[in-house]
Amino acid sequence: MSSGWAGTWRHPRDKGMTERHRPTPLEIPAPWYRSAERILAEGWRRIMVVGATDRGKSSYCNFLVNALLSKGQTVSFVDADVGQKDVGPPATVSLADLDAPAELAQAPCHALYFVGHISPIAHFLPLVLGTRRMAEAAQGEFVVIDTVGLVQGKGRVLKGFQIESLRPDALVCLERGEELAPIRHAARHCNLLRLHPSRLAAGKSPNARRRAREEAFQAHFRGAREMDLGLKEVIVQRTSLFNGEPVEDPRFLYAERLPDGLIAVAGGAAPHALERVQVLPRHFADHLLCGVADKTGECLGLGIVSGIDFGRRSLALWTPVPKHRIRIVQFGDMYLDRHGHELHLGRQGHF
Ligand SMILES: Nc1ncnc2c1ncn2[C@@H]1O[C@H](COP(=O)(O)OP(=O)(O)OP(=O)(O)O)[C@@H](O)[C@H]1O
Ligand SMILES: [Mg+2]
Repeated sequence: MSSGWAGTWRHPRDKGMTERHRPTPLEIPAPWYRSAERILAEGWRRIMVVGATDRGKSSYCNFLVNALLSKGQTVSFVDADVGQKDVGPPATVSLADLDAPAELAQAPCHALYFVGHISPIAHFLPLVLGTRRMAEAAQGEFVVIDTVGLVQGKGRVLKGFQIESLRPDALVCLERGEELAPIRHAARHCNLLRLHPSRLAAGKSPNARRRAREEAFQAHFRGAREMDLGLKEVIVQRTSLFNGEPVEDPRFLYAERLPDGLIAVAGGAAPHALERVQVLPRHFADHLLCGVADKTGECLGLGIVSGIDFGRRSLALWTPVPKHRIRIVQFGDMYLDRHGHELHLGRQGHF
């Protein structure tokens, strides 16, 4: 195995940038180089990176992806950190296939899976499923997977499911002290690479995190247009509404019969509790973040619901995805305005 990575590898973010735009250069501790050498020497193809918030998971992924690329390998990056993303918009798992060194934050997104929320809490199923789907779609000889920073409590359970689902060839644990010990213990059948964070790893404030998400949403929705989608033509997923049998009910603006009761939209006043009826507020879907997919179910991008016309049975959606490609709309679990501001972080009613 050749040595001297530190001399040969240069981060692409250091190239072609003016002094003013140059971000803090990555500091690469010697064990990080050794981990890359070992991964290449052992031929470990699927690498999952875990660590608490702000330990430098994304920085390590950036390093490892580019270190492998600089050795002539093709590398895929799966960005499964739904909140703080390098590739693609928040609330998704995304995939970038790379064959030349690139700053991950500038890498093109080749595939997406809509998770529906910027937090993993209460969204384990789409997060685990989406990460697996993206890892399977990856074209690179190596696949590097970034994960969310939730590693305590339920986060441990999530990491366990992700390891079961992905079966990584190596698990990189970026940790201070013993903070990942239970995750490592439950994964001691895997090849484990335990690394210290860089001394430059620093926390980001909640505001900085929110701003980063806003900018990422804004970038995704640049060039978006509003379009009307007929609810008979388009399949609406991840909701009971629009999957029942429409019925006339003078009490409501709109109603559908489901095998277990009615789901209805209130005409005006606040919905009241009725037995075996779920009543939604009139504007329950306004600003709802959605995934938009083609007829095969491949996510093409995001949309924001502008409104629903129940008389015409149409959904007004603001999205950068061309209308002729949209066949499926997947309801998410959060609301967003067109500037990428997060409005409500939970559904306005049970649908
Ligand atoms: N090796 C490094 N060299 C220079 N800066 C670093 C390094 N590692 C981490 N940092 C800095 O520390 C901060 C957190 O790093 P990073 O975003 O990579 O962590 P993370 O674990 O991916 O965080 P998150 O939990 O938000 O996903 C960033 O500002 C990053 O620039
Ligand atoms: Mg990160």
